[in-house]
Amino acid sequence: MSTEASLKAETPPPPQHVAIIMDGNGRWAKARGLPRVAGHQRGVDALRGVVEAGQEMGIDYLTLYAFSSENWKRPPSEVDDLMGLLRLYLRRELRELHRNGVRIRFIGEWRRLAADIVKLIEDAERTTADNTGLTLVIAVNYGSHSEIVEASRQIAVAVSDGRMSADDIDETTFAAHLHTDGIPDPDLVIRTSGEQRLSNFLLWQACYAELVFMNVLWPDFNKRSLEQAVDEYHRRERRYGATSG
Ligand code: IPE
Ligand code: IPE
Ligand code: MG
Repeated sequence: MSTEASLKAETPPPPQHVAIIMDGNGRWAKARGLPRVAGHQRGVDALRGVVEAGQEMGIDYLTLYAFSSENWKRPPSEVDDLMGLLRLYLRRELRELHRNGVRIRFIGEWRRLAADIVKLIEDAERTTADNTGLTLVIAVNYGSHSEIVEASRQIAVAVSDGRMSADDIDETTFAAHLHTDGIPDPDLVIRTSGEQRLSNFLLWQACYAELVFMNVLWPDFNKRSLEQAVDEYHRRERRYGATSG
């Protein structure tokens, strides 16, 4: 084997789609005696770094869970802080992301957010629609249960209108009614902060994802952490229900 070929053999391709539950901002702040918002601010810095790292590593799709449909249960002031950071991120980062060829997509009920945020999201998606670099998928006001229920409702309406027959409903048509239409399922789902649950994230899409739970708090997550998770992913054997190859 040539050196180049052996090097290639040693470096398996990165997962095509990595999804991250960015958790632990509050605990990061608490450990430093800071308000929770300080943790969220540092969380945005970590997010920026991870998008860059994802591009460098050749990951095609990076999905980040930024705000769940259950996060409205938090105190209004914290919700305001999180929405403010989303605004700031979109205003400040769009140009740079676009320059780097990043395509931005949002999943979740983001159309129900404040009108100015909806405009910023529409602008970000439109501006970057033809980019061919990393696809950055941001989940905001996202919850799998409501996504699946909404898909079912749309399909039921299509059947009752006669636009679709019940026999046409299969896994492919169902998936096409989810917010992630056109995005491949995640290969790897990472959750930071030591919690080991999915918190209503990509329940349909992650059916065969490898799950990696890490003890790092999100503001401390960096390129090295992402590489560690990908290394762990490469040590796993994905069988999809078949016998070991
Ligand atoms: C993740 O950090 C950010 C969001 C859920 C928006 P948390 O705010 O959940 O941090 P912890 O879990 O309280 O430490
Ligand atoms: C999940 O984190 C949601 C996001 C990271 C956006 P949470 O901190 O809200 O999850 P739970 O409440 O601990 O399950
Ligand atoms: Mg949390």
